[in-house]
Amino acid sequence: MRLHARSRLVLALAVPLLALAGCRTAAPEATASQQPQSQPRIAHDPHSFARPEEARVTHVALDLGVDFAARTLKGSATLDLQVQPGASEVVLDTDGLRLRSVTDEGGKALPWTLGTAHPRLGQPLTVTLRPGTRRIVVRYETRPEAGALQWLTPAQTAGKQHPYLFSQGEAILTRTWVPTQDSPGIRQTYSARLTVPRGLRAVMSAEQLTPEGVPVDGGHTRFDFRMPQAIPPYLMAVAVGDIAFQQLGPRSGVYAEPSVLARAAYEFGEVEQMMAAAERLYGPYRWGRYDILVLPPSFPYGGMENPRLTFATPTVLSGDRSLVSLIAHELAHSWSGNLVTNATWSDSWLNEGVTSYFELRIMEALYGREVGAMLSRLSLQELERTEKEVGEQSPQTQLYVQLKGDPEEGGSRVIYEKGAAFLQTMEETVGRERFDAFLRSYFDRHAFQSMDTRGFLAEVREHLVKGDAALEQKLQLDEWVYRPGLPANVYRPQTDRFAHVEAQVKAFLGGAPASALKTQGWLTQEWQYFLGLLPRELTPAQLASLDGTFHFTQTGNSEVLFAWLEKTIASRYEPALPALEHFLTSQGRGRFVRPLYRALMDRDWGKPLAQRIYAEARTGYHPVVMGALDKMMN
Ligand code: BES
Ligand code: ZN
Repeated sequence: MRLHARSRLVLALAVPLLALAGCRTAAPEATASQQPQSQPRIAHDPHSFARPEEARVTHVALDLGVDFAARTLKGSATLDLQVQPGASEVVLDTDGLRLRSVTDEGGKALPWTLGTAHPRLGQPLTVTLRPGTRRIVVRYETRPEAGALQWLTPAQTAGKQHPYLFSQGEAILTRTWVPTQDSPGIRQTYSARLTVPRGLRAVMSAEQLTPEGVPVDGGHTRFDFRMPQAIPPYLMAVAVGDIAFQQLGPRSGVYAEPSVLARAAYEFGEVEQMMAAAERLYGPYRWGRYDILVLPPSFPYGGMENPRLTFATPTVLSGDRSLVSLIAHELAHSWSGNLVTNATWSDSWLNEGVTSYFELRIMEALYGREVGAMLSRLSLQELERTEKEVGEQSPQTQLYVQLKGDPEEGGSRVIYEKGAAFLQTMEETVGRERFDAFLRSYFDRHAFQSMDTRGFLAEVREHLVKGDAALEQKLQLDEWVYRPGLPANVYRPQTDRFAHVEAQVKAFLGGAPASALKTQGWLTQEWQYFLGLLPRELTPAQLASLDGTFHFTQTGNSEVLFAWLEKTIASRYEPALPALEHFLTSQGRGRFVRPLYRALMDRDWGKPLAQRIYAEARTGYHPVVMGALDKMMN
């Protein structure tokens, strides 16, 4: 990793982003009950209508046409079912789908009903089966405002010539484009045939059977895909657009719009090494290829771990590979999340927390102990900051969260940072060798299955603690998982480089000008730590001194810019306002835009500014970000 580039324009992707739909509201409370089953047991999931103990979907075959003018996917989903003796119905999750017909394999109509619409969960689709029906065909069409899909106009892309479509299924949005049992515990294989306008490429979280597509009648191209490993439905994913490809290594490559491809290929040039490091840690990569798709700037997340094809924000393209921990994270999900999957969304720390630990280990393997320690301290810095904000005793700081509402709004980073700290503390307590052996065997034992919080703790007790009462006492497992706050045994790795940063902050706050600080050779992580240590509010003179020396307002590094912009809003540092406006209108990553709008809205002077910028930018944000901002702006 190198220094972040300091005097580059933010993102050269200043696209006034475009309009899509609606905001969503709360779901009922979760419970953690389980039904014993002969199949791998499936935890009760309060965010799905499915009753897999009666009939469950095992395979989905999609045949869909992509219509950019109508903003619809239209065609059929053929579902293979496993039906328990005596069961006569299958219940699917749907949300806003326009259903045409449900038939059996032979085309004979099957009776079906749509239940009452829940504001968040959508509608159960109940299909009555005939004795022996093991395959059903649902003909349907999506709505233009489907929550999982964002339809972009050519103007919203980098190339400006072609429209773009992408999906985002996690947590419970797959049901807005695929009628299936949308619960992380109900694994399904899938295949797909997509028909798209000629000139565009379709990619999916699956093996590409026709990488360049096959021309078909009517000016269209057909693409076929196959995902032979059973995955949770939130990992079904599609993107269609002017998408080019560049190979990175024997098993890896990058997809992006042509004008972004070269930058993306440079940024992710170390991905093969990351894969090798991950495999050395926790066992073989089981998904064949690992490709990365760089999305247009409205992509609402930093990254999404769609199997075989991570989706990534273009804001990760810093030009100097300094933000690639994001790729380490999404790659790590190939084990924690995609291989061993959270049973319900209340257990999602098992996806995100375990992955955040794994991410740190990959980063350490590639860049050394010091970088690993810095990343881990940054994560603790964030965690402690959140704890101060929400209160140390807030249930929001638990790893296991009884989900009351919308799993889509899990904006909290606690499960990431506290989860990573929990695993680091276990590692430190039992020793690396022993901990790694445990984690590796955990992935092997539960590959292609789901895991809940109780099950994970049982694993730790059975395979790591093994009845050692002193160790059990030391680890404080239940306190880590079920109680708020940070347990006393938390491990804090030391780094000399951060000790040096602390000294510079002290000097600066003691009155030294920024130009007197010793910052030569600092990595992005040191700048992030530096900004994180500064008090929330600074004087205009202090901000001007920092900006005059370090040119934060001009940085091309999205993470550094974000941290800096937060400071400038808190102290109303006006010279940064044009950069703030540009940042808010040129990308739509929720973790960046939400806190910045929030900070503006909390200030008398900032509120009208936020409203003006939002009026311009709103239609360009993804539905999931737009929904949260709509609420905030009222
Ligand atoms: N799986 C998440 C994204 C996600 C979580 C989508 C919950 C929907 C609901 C992904 O792996 C993730 O954690 N992304 C992070 C980046 C990462 C480097 C921490 C993000 O988007 O900020
Ligand atoms: Zn993640």
